[in-house]
Amino acid sequence: MESIKDYINTHKDRFIQELIELLKIPSISADPAYSEDVWQTAKAVEESLVNAGCDHVEICETKGYPVVYAEKTIDTSLPTILVYGHYDVQPPDPMDLWKSPPFEPVIKETELHPHGAIFARGACDDKGQFFMHVKAVEFMIKNDLLPCNVKFMIEGEEEVGSDSLADFLEEHKEKLKNDIILISDTGMIANDIPSITTGLRGLSYVEVEVTGPNRDLHSGIYGGAVPNPINILGKMIASLHDENNHITIPGFYEKVEELSQDERAEMAEAPFDLEAYKKALDIGDVHGEKGFTTPERYSIRPTLDVNGIWGGYIGKGAKTVIASKAYAKISMRLVPNQDPDEITDLFAKHFESIAPKGVKVKVMPHHGGLPYVTKTNSVGYQAAAKAYETTFGKKPVPERTGGSIPIVALFEEVLGSKTILMGFGLDSDAIHSPNEHFGVWNFLKGIETIPYFYKYYTELAKTS
Ligand code: BES
Ligand code: MN
Ligand code: MN
Repeated sequence: MESIKDYINTHKDRFIQELIELLKIPSISADPAYSEDVWQTAKAVEESLVNAGCDHVEICETKGYPVVYAEKTIDTSLPTILVYGHYDVQPPDPMDLWKSPPFEPVIKETELHPHGAIFARGACDDKGQFFMHVKAVEFMIKNDLLPCNVKFMIEGEEEVGSDSLADFLEEHKEKLKNDIILISDTGMIANDIPSITTGLRGLSYVEVEVTGPNRDLHSGIYGGAVPNPINILGKMIASLHDENNHITIPGFYEKVEELSQDERAEMAEAPFDLEAYKKALDIGDVHGEKGFTTPERYSIRPTLDVNGIWGGYIGKGAKTVIASKAYAKISMRLVPNQDPDEITDLFAKHFESIAPKGVKVKVMPHHGGLPYVTKTNSVGYQAAAKAYETTFGKKPVPERTGGSIPIVALFEEVLGSKTILMGFGLDSDAIHSPNEHFGVWNFLKGIETIPYFYKYYTELAKTS
């Protein structure tokens, strides 16, 4: 399949320009003010799939943002690959930390991306990554090289919990029937260390509200004599980890799958440079659960982190006040076999139980999701590994990531399909952060690698 390289060389400027156009539309699913832009993005994705040569391209309405669906059937006796991705993006805040506006894409060189990277919200998560699939399929269709059937399902609510997609799966089981699901929405270790994601963490996300006195008070007249909800919330949060950074919620670790020494030794073979990690983040030291390495802490161990905390006076200057209320948003990343609903329950019970009498506590659950792991001896993994070997010239490393794509567990539950996660981003690409970017080299390498997955998957599926 030498011609994929030629095809990329001929068309790469157009590929990049098309991606830039897609990145200009601010498809922020979390903010209703951008609803029209999210819809407009769905239409742009629809158009790109039509142009790639897919049949039956449609915008499927849901109770929320639509799912863009497309298919190209070669022969129903051949395997079907279902490509999943998301066209919605995270809010760009905080705006003032962006070096160029988030929806005015620019290409700049960086240390890790000497061939340039496209800077824009969604460049890597996930517009740039699902668009690699659109372009790879375009190549295969236009050159009569598509070896099997393909379906696309690109959603617009991933960053807000994929609520409508869960219903969509239930309603369209037949339409979505497939042999394997293929996703590029994760990362790899480095451009010279290709890796395949074999696990995702689950998620339980809660918001807490602590109420003290019934109104804001003068911190002199009342200070020292009444429960200050901010002081108390701080103390409650601090108590959620012990001196070894274990989470103190009773039952939290009960179902956690412990890896064997052999599995941990195998994990430790994946390259990881602790000094470079600290340097890249400008931290004096790493921090985490005693008894585990940094890669273990961010992949096979569960966590509890405050994502936001607020209350009281945060304006200019000083205001002497004891607030009536304090709030925090807390995420817990989960590992097999923790259940998000159970963990949310355990959290709520514990958090309420540690509140002093002087305050009232409310725990409000947000979206959650199950963790996911996949084996390296499957046909899908083997096909992906062969594809990376072909285009990177070396075997990819299997790696469990710390992030979550909750819908992946539902794909298995509802559609009965396993998922292969071929991510081409780097951890340093700043997804969800200011100055998100995606390497031009990574974008093109993805387009080059994907057709080989189709080829090897079709070949291996036949013989297995
Ligand atoms: N693409 C990410 C998940 C991801 C990124 C996994 C990098 C592994 C490596 C996805 O868009 C995402 O942000 N997921 C959310 C969960 C969702 C429910 C908001 C996350 O992990 O915080
Ligand atoms: Mn994503
Ligand atoms: Mn994301």
